[in-house]
Amino acid sequence: MSELRLSSEKRLRIFTGRGYPELAEDVAAELGIPITPTSAYDFANGEIFVRFEESVRGSDAFVIQSHAAPVNKQIMEQLIMVDALKRASAKRITVVAPFYGYARQDKKHRGREPISARLMADLFKTAGADRLMVVDLHTSQIQGFFDGPVDHLFALPLLTNYVGSKVDRSRLTIVSPDSGRVRVAERWSDMLGGVPIAFIHKTRDPRIPNESVTGRVVGDVKGQTCVVIDDMIDTAGTITKAVDALFEEGASEVIVAATHAVLSGPAVERLKASRVSEVVVTNTLPIPEESKFDRLTILSIAPLLGRAIREVFEDGSVTSLFDGHS
Ligand code: R5P
Repeated sequence: MSELRLSSEKRLRIFTGRGYPELAEDVAAELGIPITPTSAYDFANGEIFVRFEESVRGSDAFVIQSHAAPVNKQIMEQLIMVDALKRASAKRITVVAPFYGYARQDKKHRGREPISARLMADLFKTAGADRLMVVDLHTSQIQGFFDGPVDHLFALPLLTNYVGSKVDRSRLTIVSPDSGRVRVAERWSDMLGGVPIAFIHKTRDPRIPNESVTGRVVGDVKGQTCVVIDDMIDTAGTITKAVDALFEEGASEVIVAATHAVLSGPAVERLKASRVSEVVVTNTLPIPEESKFDRLTILSIAPLLGRAIREVFEDGSVTSLFDGHS
């Protein structure tokens, strides 16, 4: 009778939905492994079907899907993939959402509103996710919405290395586009050797999505090269109003740096029409060719995701990737 060999070794597997397979390919290349073949298609009424073409039993599964438009479809597909992995006996399932959808709905601004960022976390948990991996959540406390480990990765080192290599730090001011992001501006300042910060006092009408009212600049930006930082550029209303306000206050140059290039509706036209000298983003979301323009710089998030996935798989330290900025 042949000897029965027992192995508790888990196998790293990368899966991708159809939202942004190119990013998953780049992450897989960083890890030096192929993406596990998956069939996925839509039924006539829009329902999604998914099946893995190989056994996934016992695997340490990382399901990559950025919540790009159409957001609800990408989320549903990722949920269905997690469900399929759970039912096929994957050992551990990590949802990798470089851009986590609904993150801006993280609290009730008024009565009778949802907390959709929490609902998202519950949906992934119910589907079978053991952990989440995300990049630059809208607010850090969303980590607590998921009942399990959350690897919250930061694009900060990637963005500050790039910006720091291009600007004269003696004339640099980091600008938060609202008071809520001042803490992040302080981290930027730390990373760039203690440069000054400023912020824009912004008020928003919560009844009108994507509409912000830019107020006054708090801080001295006269003659400065300003870097406006944000987690995302959606319609670019926030950022272009900030750029205008900074020039009005005497800034000599304005650069924009944001992690997630949502770039909905009028965003590209607004950015092209603005006096911003460079818009620096990462590729947590797909950026179609028609949305690219001369002053847009896209930095790859794939090496960071690859390193984080390796650390999780090898039971290493994700915190070590950020020099204490956890
Ligand atoms: C707001 O709190 C966010 O951090 C972004 O500033 C905002 O969602 C960007 O949206 P938009 O580009 O449409 O102004």
